[in-house]
Amino acid sequence: MSTTDEIKQRLDIVDVVSQYVKLTKSGRNYKATCPFHSEKTASFFVFPEKQSWHCFGACATGGDVFTFVMKKEGIDFGQALRILAEKANVTLTYKTSQATAEDRDRQDSLFKLNEVAAEYYHYLLLHDAEAETARGYAQGRGLSQTVIANFQLGYSPNKWEGLLSYLSKAGYKEDDMLAVGLIVQRDTGGFHDRFRNRLMFPIRDAKARVVGFGGRALDDSIPKYLNSPQSPVFDKSSIIYGIERAAGAIRQHDSVVITEGYMDTLAAHQHGFENTVASMGTALTEKQISTLRKLSRNIIVALDADAAGLEATARSITTIDDQIPKEHWMPWIEPRTYSELVKHEVQVVEIAGGKDPDEIIRSSPEKWAGLLKESQPIIDFTLKKEIANIDKNNPKDKSALVSKFLPIISRIDDTVRRAHYVEKLSRLLDLDERFVRDALFELQAREKKSRTSGGSKAIKNYADRITSSRPIEEYLLALLLQFDDLREEGMKLSANYFEHPENRDILLRWQEKSDAGSFDAEIDPAIKEFYDHLISLGGQLPPSLHQNKREREYALNDCINRLLESHIRNLEIKKQMILSEEKDRGDAEGQLAKLIEHGIRESQQLHDIFKKRGRLFSRTKGA
Ligand code: UTP
Ligand code: MN
Repeated sequence: MSTTDEIKQRLDIVDVVSQYVKLTKSGRNYKATCPFHSEKTASFFVFPEKQSWHCFGACATGGDVFTFVMKKEGIDFGQALRILAEKANVTLTYKTSQATAEDRDRQDSLFKLNEVAAEYYHYLLLHDAEAETARGYAQGRGLSQTVIANFQLGYSPNKWEGLLSYLSKAGYKEDDMLAVGLIVQRDTGGFHDRFRNRLMFPIRDAKARVVGFGGRALDDSIPKYLNSPQSPVFDKSSIIYGIERAAGAIRQHDSVVITEGYMDTLAAHQHGFENTVASMGTALTEKQISTLRKLSRNIIVALDADAAGLEATARSITTIDDQIPKEHWMPWIEPRTYSELVKHEVQVVEIAGGKDPDEIIRSSPEKWAGLLKESQPIIDFTLKKEIANIDKNNPKDKSALVSKFLPIISRIDDTVRRAHYVEKLSRLLDLDERFVRDALFELQAREKKSRTSGGSKAIKNYADRITSSRPIEEYLLALLLQFDDLREEGMKLSANYFEHPENRDILLRWQEKSDAGSFDAEIDPAIKEFYDHLISLGGQLPPSLHQNKREREYALNDCINRLLESHIRNLEIKKQMILSEEKDRGDAEGQLAKLIEHGIRESQQLHDIFKKRGRLFSRTKGA
């Protein structure tokens, strides 16, 4: 999935547009007076199902969430991408960008600052006379010198201005120290160290840059761990403790073990389980899972057995999403993440008796290895827990459990796996499998209906008929990027016919530049990867196109026509959808008239295209 797709999937265009425009519901869609031109009757529509918008009035233009924000904010695609990625919590993976070069320099200096602080703390732990208690503590917790060195553990001195004065003397700015949370502002003005008299754990990202710290109290002080605050380099929801040292082993073993704590991860590494990381006590997030999945698909989560109870409320059935309990599905897994974990076949290691992996590993690495081997899919694990909690002779309990698990089972894409869990659930509850299977079908049917309810069947069909023009757009761009002699034709093309914002952006940039070479050099990093993909697509075009100019002109024209056709078709469908809804509601006579008039214009265009395509077709046949 492309980054823009991912962003679109996570954001709802209705929410985004609502931040700028007051939308009112109109059947399945939303409408407003157009924010891009002045008008009295609403002709600006947002289509939640297709995550698109269109103004059927004077501007007669539309697009997706990206084009909306670009137009509204007057910014380019790269900027919109960055804003929306942030909103959607999607990390952009491209490397550099002019727009963010400044941010990057700033980030680099913050990393550097953290690195120096880590060295300072580490030096003190190893050598400072005042760190005696801390060294004793580390030893008491069984940490080896190797692990202390590898993870660069440290000691923050019991002073108000230990690190502060060290860093100041070394020429670092208080602003930066404050930004990464190494120091704290005093009420009375001035600053002091955040971390005092603690065993320090530098936290690194996958590139081994220090993003923040955790500091453990050496006694029973509260809080037990003090962590860096959220900062430009420290994003709690994506940080995985130990990732920089575990990544290699995760790839090598093709599995990763996620524990909760710093100490668990250190003990694991010390005893040879180097594919271990920690979620750092916070709820496991989708971001963390998706980072780890890139290294290995085999994810094992170490869970405290006592803490892993499920919330036992049966809910009224509405949609599958609502069926998945929102709170405390598992205490340290984000509720939203749970169904992801099931889908990805995440395994669970159950740790009984309120112990930490840390304690088990240190007392018996073999036992830990055994537990890892016995890990089971998370859905089996929760199923077992839940069954243990109910009275199997009570039909109400059984029914509640079935309705709790069916939505989860129905989320599983693989048919065989799905059937397996239907069978298992039936068996564990002493139910005839047929009933459970029927209940699953019913649920799926209901889900389907609720997805399409609120509108007639015809309207759902409208939405289904809207097609994607992505392949045509990409092919067309690949042609333009590949063949300079298509420039004249390409200059006539309107970006409005493109459905996908990155394609629009590339076309516009290509049109702005007089030759392909200069364009190539200035391509926005936000879309560089995608641009490269188009270039390689161009390289794979059939030889006949490379050899024959007429062939490629024909190919381009064909693309343009198809694109127009798809654009107008989709518009037509949206219009019909609105018309039929407005009609149902007996609404807006004037608006109908306007849409119809607009429709005539578009239909005429469609007609022209068919004529033109017919001509092109006979031309090739004749040739
Ligand atoms: P634990 O309470 O299990 O701590 O919290 P631990 O790692 O086992 O530490 P020890 O063994 O008691 O020394 C798990 C994780 O939750 C976070 C830390 O990341 C910790 O490793 N945590 C816990 C905090 O951030 N703050 C706290 O006050 C407690
Ligand atoms: Mn512990």
